[in-house]
Amino acid sequence: MIDTTLPLTDLHRHLDGNIRAQTILDLGRQFNLSLPATTLETLRPHVQVTANEPDLVSFLAKLDWGVKVLASLDACRRVAYENIEDAAQHGLHYVELRFSPGYMAMTHQLPVDGVVEAVIAGVREGCRDFGVQARLIGIMSRTFGETACEVELDALLAHRDHITALDLAGDELGFPGSLFLPHFNRARDAGWRITVHAGEAAGPESIWQAIRELGAERIGHGVKAIEDPALMDFLAEQRIGIESCLTSNIQTSTVAALEKHPLKTFLEHGVLATINTDDPAVQGVDITHEYQVAAAQAGLSQAQIRQAQQNGLTIAFLSEQEKQALR
Ligand code: HPA
Ligand code: ZN
Repeated sequence: MIDTTLPLTDLHRHLDGNIRAQTILDLGRQFNLSLPATTLETLRPHVQVTANEPDLVSFLAKLDWGVKVLASLDACRRVAYENIEDAAQHGLHYVELRFSPGYMAMTHQLPVDGVVEAVIAGVREGCRDFGVQARLIGIMSRTFGETACEVELDALLAHRDHITALDLAGDELGFPGSLFLPHFNRARDAGWRITVHAGEAAGPESIWQAIRELGAERIGHGVKAIEDPALMDFLAEQRIGIESCLTSNIQTSTVAALEKHPLKTFLEHGVLATINTDDPAVQGVDITHEYQVAAAQAGLSQAQIRQAQQNGLTIAFLSEQEKQALR
C-alpha cells in the first residue's frame, strides 16, 4: 500500500477532467444553463464513466460538461481551487495539475489568457488554504488543431513563470505530434519542461516522436512502449518517466484488463514509471484507489508499489532542492 513515510504525488491529473459533479450543478444553476439532469444522482452518468468507453475520443467527451459550465473566469478560479482541496482530501502532498485553457475557454468564449490567470489564482489560493504543493502544466488540446494550440501556447507563455511544463493531450490518432514541432520549440526556448500524451491511442512510434522531436522528458501513459523492446531499453537508460494511469487506460479501452497493464513490466525493466489518476472525477477514482488496483489487479509487489511512489518524486518537475523539501 501507500508508504506513509514517502511523499504522495500525482503527476498526471487534469484539472479540467476533475470538476466535481456538484460544482457542475451549482454553476449550471448560477448561469442558468441547461444541463442533461438536475440532481447529482441523475447527472452522474453524464459526467462520469459508467462503463468502459470504446476509445479515447469517446472517453474524452465525458469531460465536456465540466467545461461547458465555465461561464466566467471566477468559475475557472473556483474549479482550480477545488482541485487543490480535493488533492488535500485525497492525501496528496504534491500535485502537478494540467489544464487546457483553450478547452476551458471554448464554450463561453472566455479570454484564453484570462483562464490561465484564473487557474493560477485558484491554485495559489488552494495551496495557501490546504497546505498542498502544486505545479501547473499547460496543455495544448491537439483535437482542435495547430492554430487553436498556438492560441493556448501564447496564453500560457504570457504567464510563463507560473507554468512548469507543456503537454499535448486529446486525439492522438487524429493529430500526431509532428504537427506541433514549432509549438514545442517555443516551449523549450521558454525553459519549460516537456511531457506528452503518447503511446495511448497510437503506437510506439508516437512515443519515439514525442521524445526525439518534441523533446519529451516524460510520457503520459506510454502503454504501447511495451510493443517495442528497443524503446523499453531507451526509456530505462535515458530515465524518461512514464506517467501511468491505470483506471483511465481501462476506461479508454487502451488496455483490455488491469491484469494485462504494462506498469509492472515497466518497473521490472527499470523504467521510471509512476502511479497517477488522469481525470479522477470523470473516472470516479482517487489516488488511493489507483494504488489499490496496482497491487490487487495490475500485480505489483509491495516493493514495486514503493518504487512507483518513489519514482513520483524522482521524475517530478521540481529542482533537487524542492524535492528534498518535500521529503
Ligand atoms: N488522453 C488524452 N487527452 C486527455 C486524457 C487522456 O487520457 N485525459 C484528458 N485529456
Ligand atoms: Zn491525461
